[in-house]
Amino acid sequence: MTASPQDNLAALYPAHLAEIERRSADALAACGRDTLVVAAGQPHLWFLDDEGYPFKPNPHFLNWLPLADAPGSWLVYTPGARPKLVFLQPRDYWHVVPAAPAGYWVEHFDIATVHTPEAARAQLPQDPSRCAIVGAANAAIGDCVPDNPAALMHLLHYRRACKTPYEVTMLRVASRIGVHGHRAAAQGFREGLSEFDIHCRYLEATRLSEHQLPYGNIIALDAHGAVLHYMHQDRNPPAHAHSFLIDAGGAFHGYASDITRTYAAPEATEWQALIDAVDAAQQGFCAKVRAGQSYPELHVHAHHVLMQAMHDQGFITCSAEAAVASGISSAFFPHGLGHLIGLQVHDVAGLARNEAGDTLPSPAGHPYLRNTRTLVPGMAVTIEPGLYFIEMLLAELKAKSAAKDVNWAKVDAFRKYGGIRIEDDVVCTEGAPLNLTRDAFAAA
Ligand code: GLY
Ligand code: MN
Ligand code: MN
Repeated sequence: MTASPQDNLAALYPAHLAEIERRSADALAACGRDTLVVAAGQPHLWFLDDEGYPFKPNPHFLNWLPLADAPGSWLVYTPGARPKLVFLQPRDYWHVVPAAPAGYWVEHFDIATVHTPEAARAQLPQDPSRCAIVGAANAAIGDCVPDNPAALMHLLHYRRACKTPYEVTMLRVASRIGVHGHRAAAQGFREGLSEFDIHCRYLEATRLSEHQLPYGNIIALDAHGAVLHYMHQDRNPPAHAHSFLIDAGGAFHGYASDITRTYAAPEATEWQALIDAVDAAQQGFCAKVRAGQSYPELHVHAHHVLMQAMHDQGFITCSAEAAVASGISSAFFPHGLGHLIGLQVHDVAGLARNEAGDTLPSPAGHPYLRNTRTLVPGMAVTIEPGLYFIEMLLAELKAKSAAKDVNWAKVDAFRKYGGIRIEDDVVCTEGAPLNLTRDAFAAA
């Protein structure tokens, strides 16, 4: 489960690299430095321990190179010169050391292979004061200390929202991997497996280990689906599960997919009807991923459409408009419509107004919306509406005057199903949106 020759990464990579070079040159100009130095990163140890967290590379490094497992390596770029990779291959008989660089990207770099951090330092620019050094604090070697200049970071983060065609392909492969896992997990639900065993099926199908996932799997049966980030994974299955919510992604050289599906047991037809309504609404929102669309306006539109569905199915007696105005909609749909996605599952700069670091706050009453930008071609976002029966939020709603507009008998009958979320990864283009998730399900 990886890229296929049809993905044509080798052909797409040079234009991607040229774009990253362009952005980097502009970012260096913005902060008044000559050379960009990017640390791949170092593993972090647990407190007072010689064991540590799985290595998670600096996304700025991955933006240049599909080299997700090269701790201690560095990238150096001075506009006008070829980029240089300082590749650390430690002398180490305790661990597997990173394999020598290979593949379509190698020919575009000058590569210095070194065997110690000191030798890596010798390959970096002599005078760090002329450099913008991007990385986590623990990546420092000698006088080469990450300083992450704000003007440079703001510009790179802002522009990273727009993916190059190469990156869209990386995301496409990540979606394919995730969908493969989703199909295996759905089969596990039909077989009556526990949450933990469904999770294992997912890992088996994606060929990803737990720490290679872009985020912790959410595998929720029945009422557990009402916990937005449920990561508990019961080892024993319920006697009979009515509902299954799975939010799980794939990863490909650091690029993430973020996919959610909700399933009903065959006899839970009332639950299936609500899932179908959310699914239809979600596809309508995906169709609006077009250049010029304000994402926060799409989020507010989603509240109205979902409340209309709740009205049509008899959960609320007031109009959709009244349900949004009174806060009923936020009790049932208490998170954002989605976020930017890329090298981080919640990709950076979703709330950025411009590349200078100003921000666009989320609309009043919608504190959890992670994307307030207007869509432009190349932007990759998730579209993930949901409806949930969350005890805490329903109790709060019941204490408000708007409680009179809720059909509590119907709501109470649905608490056992937990919640619904349908989530796709969608790329804005010059024309019709590209739905990476639905494409991958259709091809599977
Ligand atoms: N998987 C977390 C999210 O959907 O944002
Ligand atoms: Mn998401
Ligand atoms: Mn998700």
